[in-house]
Amino acid sequence: MQIEKTMDKVISLAKRRGFVYQGSEIYGGMAGVYDYGPYGVELLNNIKTSWWKEHVQTRENYFGLDSAIFKDPRVWEASGHTKGFADPMTECKKCNTRIRVDKELARIGVDADEKMSEAELQELFDASKSKIKCQKCGGGEFGAVKKFNMLVTSNLGDFTGTGENPVYLPGEACQGIYLNYKNVLDTTRAKVPFGIAQIGKAFRNEISPRNFLFRTRELEQADTQYFIKPNDNKENYERIKQERWNWYLSLGIKPENLRWHQHERLVFYAKDAWDIEYNFPSYGFDELEGIHDRTDYDLTQHMKYSGVDLNYADPETGEKYIPWILETSMGTGRAFLAVISDAYTEDELNGEVRTVLRLSPKLAPVKVAVFPLLRNKPELVAKAREVYMMLKPYFSTEWDDNGNVGKRYRRQDEIGTPWCVTIDFDTLGESPENKDTVTIRDRDTGTQTRMKITELASYIRKGVE
Ligand code: GAP
Repeated sequence: MQIEKTMDKVISLAKRRGFVYQGSEIYGGMAGVYDYGPYGVELLNNIKTSWWKEHVQTRENYFGLDSAIFKDPRVWEASGHTKGFADPMTECKKCNTRIRVDKELARIGVDADEKMSEAELQELFDASKSKIKCQKCGGGEFGAVKKFNMLVTSNLGDFTGTGENPVYLPGEACQGIYLNYKNVLDTTRAKVPFGIAQIGKAFRNEISPRNFLFRTRELEQADTQYFIKPNDNKENYERIKQERWNWYLSLGIKPENLRWHQHERLVFYAKDAWDIEYNFPSYGFDELEGIHDRTDYDLTQHMKYSGVDLNYADPETGEKYIPWILETSMGTGRAFLAVISDAYTEDELNGEVRTVLRLSPKLAPVKVAVFPLLRNKPELVAKAREVYMMLKPYFSTEWDDNGNVGKRYRRQDEIGTPWCVTIDFDTLGESPENKDTVTIRDRDTGTQTRMKITELASYIRKGVE
């Protein structure tokens, strides 16, 4: 059966089935902010757990970290964000819609360099103006091009009420890793080369948050920073790129939906930058993760601004140097959107069209659902509760006794539950050879097999692993 997979369908499922809610929805919703609902938080946590396992728990030379959101304001001066973290913006004079100038220029094939001044951008924009129309109202008159800094500020610890001493929220989560590089070295057995991994929040005053979880103002980044000897970047960079690609495949993402993109215009901290892009339904290929060769930029800057010596002393040779850094940075919201989009399927099963999330079992928010065949037969319900309570401590398990079994299957298919277990009269011994067996139904094939209750847990564990 041929179906058209659209982002609207994916978003509708995500909202309808409690994966994702608009932030502050009862107040009309807040642009660029989303909340994860009961199934969403399970799926997101499973993605993060898989990432953490890959980058910390199964490695000898990577160390985990969870740094505070708030940092000394000088961090963001040292990192370059107070000056360089700005997007050029203009406004439609007719409907006041704010427009990202560089994105608008890129849409008509004009390349704007991020190092360009406001005046240079204005010139480029004016020269292309005849081809640019407001996407909302079709207007062709725009205000002056202004660079808008994306750092979000707070008044933490500032009681003057003037707003003159802002404490910034992180523009990128990775700065916490650089601040703790020396702490990790001093308190562990870390030796260059080694990595630090962190999943942390970042905040960006995006001019036009858009495309659901793709471009948000509050976001979360799963970062690794690999500290290497100067000039040891080439081979390590290639290896790290390949590892990140393979991790997406390990989540079950189809390889044809992934591709590489090398940056021509580099952000202020990078020497080389590659993105892994995902082919989002309706949106097309766009950035999922950035992999950056940051050289010694970050540690050199922090050494200069803090006055603390951040050189590494090689314990064997005594050689001193500032390590170079190779970074991988993935937005967990974008990974979530890629995973759910990739898994979204509509197919026909037993003559009925169904929507099914073909999630890898290790990511599925619910691993197994348990049903009594009929809800009004106490002996079936009691046996089914027994099976449910037996599985629940070990797997995310859902109880459902509402409606006919076919409907319950459809509900579980929509949230990607790999297995549904039904307790029927045979379980109770109506046909003695089947006593204490249940049917277990496979999400992808729809086939049902009989299995002893005592074998269920090991079958599910094997399937998840
Ligand atoms: N520390 C490097 C860094 O922050 P980036 O390319 O700006 O690099 C890394 O961001 C990743 O964070 C992106 O590949 C994307 O997955 C995610 N990301 C960035 N901005 C985002 C936004 N506004 N909304 C959601 N995810 C975002």
